[in-house]
Amino acid sequence: MFATIILLWLCVWFIILQFKSKRPKNFPPGPPILPVLGNILNLSLENPLKDFEKLRKSYGNVYSLFIGPKPAVVINGMNVIKEALMTKANDFSGRPQDLFVNDITKRKGVILADYGPSWREHRRFALMTLRNFGLGKNSMEERIHGEIKHIINTLEKSIGKSLTPQVMFHNAASNIICQVLFGTRYEYDDEFIRVIVRCFTENAKITNGPWTMLYDSVPIVRKLPLPFTKAFKNAETCQSLANRLVTEHKKTRVPGEPRDFVDCYLDELDKRGSDGSSFSEEQLIMYALDLHFAGTDTTSNTLLTGFLYLMTNPHIQERCQQEIDKVLEGKEWVGFDDRHNMPYVQAVIHEVQRIANTVPLSVFHCTTKDTELMGYSIPKGTMIIPNLTSVLNEEGQWKFPHEFNPENFLNDQGEFVKPEAFMPFSAGPRMCLGEGLARMELFLITVTLLRKFKFIWPEDAGEPDYTPVYGVTLTPKPYYMKVQLRATQ
Ligand code: HEM
Ligand SMILES: *[C@@H]1O[C@H](CO)[C@@H](O)[C@H](O)[C@H]1NC(C)=O
Ligand SMILES: *[C@@H]1O[C@H](CO)[C@@H](O)[C@H](O)[C@H]1NC(C)=O
Repeated sequence: MFATIILLWLCVWFIILQFKSKRPKNFPPGPPILPVLGNILNLSLENPLKDFEKLRKSYGNVYSLFIGPKPAVVINGMNVIKEALMTKANDFSGRPQDLFVNDITKRKGVILADYGPSWREHRRFALMTLRNFGLGKNSMEERIHGEIKHIINTLEKSIGKSLTPQVMFHNAASNIICQVLFGTRYEYDDEFIRVIVRCFTENAKITNGPWTMLYDSVPIVRKLPLPFTKAFKNAETCQSLANRLVTEHKKTRVPGEPRDFVDCYLDELDKRGSDGSSFSEEQLIMYALDLHFAGTDTTSNTLLTGFLYLMTNPHIQERCQQEIDKVLEGKEWVGFDDRHNMPYVQAVIHEVQRIANTVPLSVFHCTTKDTELMGYSIPKGTMIIPNLTSVLNEEGQWKFPHEFNPENFLNDQGEFVKPEAFMPFSAGPRMCLGEGLARMELFLITVTLLRKFKFIWPEDAGEPDYTPVYGVTLTPKPYYMKVQLRATQ
């Protein structure tokens, strides 16, 4: 009986929604819109990349897609993306507010916050705090080097053997951001980290999946006990873990002497009092989880891609090592400033980021008002999908758009140059807030490990498969690596 009523309800909704999915006037072109489903039949849920390719070929650089009844516009190519995210930043810097992910994060935090005062205040606060931690004795560099010691320990235990680096890089990236946020790191088998990582990965899968599509397109099902309720449970678990850490901080902190991000935020809360500002303890908890999430998978997948290509291109690995040995001769540690003397290593790391294409469709944007792009009209509240891949391998922007080649970032004199189309962190006011930290991590970790170890593709591993696993972030297929200590150092 219950099921019949639900079905009837759904049918009524389906019919109502039929009238809703109409293409607005002068909207970018796209495939014919089916009632209710929009264009989801045009997309394979597991890996829609091939389907996107077809759509772009048929409809051009600016095309529309209906995800259920919701219109979205995919934007491709450097010129289009620059015009939207930079020239018309005020019109294109919103975030959709009516999705599954918004409900999961209770509309708090910074990544998914709409373009407005709360987002602006929190973004400015994070940038300032991250910068301040970059100065002084306990500098960001030292924190990163502290974690690199643990990576080295793990690798040293595997000398001469093969290991899978996935968990190691994932935990290292997670620990670096945890140090900044909470002032602690976690052993690689710690319960806290294991639970958080499990919740994050499960939720990422659920978010990519068909039930979320249903949740987003047919609001009526949202309260039903369907598989997506698990994601809400996971989110609660994470929040209560973060809550515990904040409570501990409140007990042990000395106001005005912050040890980490959480202390800084609590100081800021004291300063602002209850003047109606957007700062609150609940915000802090979601904010910390946001930063942890945004900083972990991205950095670790970029590192995984990097070591995959360094192993399978031994001549590139060796050339990096020569440059590193020369520049660091007699020095104990590599510092972030040493990058200015390492054009080749810089080029390799940037090329890794270009090829890794870690966040292929950026984070979705949303128009904040009725606007125009390339002659098309786009109404307020339209979801905007910036295709960063289309810029990172755009023909005409790169010397070698479709191959792994550090020459993409070197000029004729062998100096490091960064083409305008290098946008792995996106562009405009919403650009990745952790860019500075991420670049420091990639440089210090890559250089320190290449200086100490030689990384070898195991003979019995077969041909390397470079095709990434599709998701919000792209992940290389799991692989093994063989590690040797380098003789010269
Ligand atoms: C290689 C590593 C990384 C890559 C490739 C990357 C990439 C991106 C991209 C493409 C966006 C979306 C920008 C947009 O909406 O247009 C983004 C946003 C963001 N990233 Fe990163 N990211 C990385 C590392 C980090 C780290 C380490 C942190 C943590 C400190 C971080 C924090 C954030 C935050 C908070 C946002 C949301 C910014 C906003 O909405 O205003 N990211 N990132
Ligand atoms: C999209 O799906 C519709 C309906 O199934 C089909 O008619 C159309 O050819 C598809 N278009 C593309 C570009 O795949
Ligand atoms: C993004 O661009 C790439 C490369 O041009 C293309 O293969 C892919 O299909 C595009 N994705 C979307 C969503 O349009």
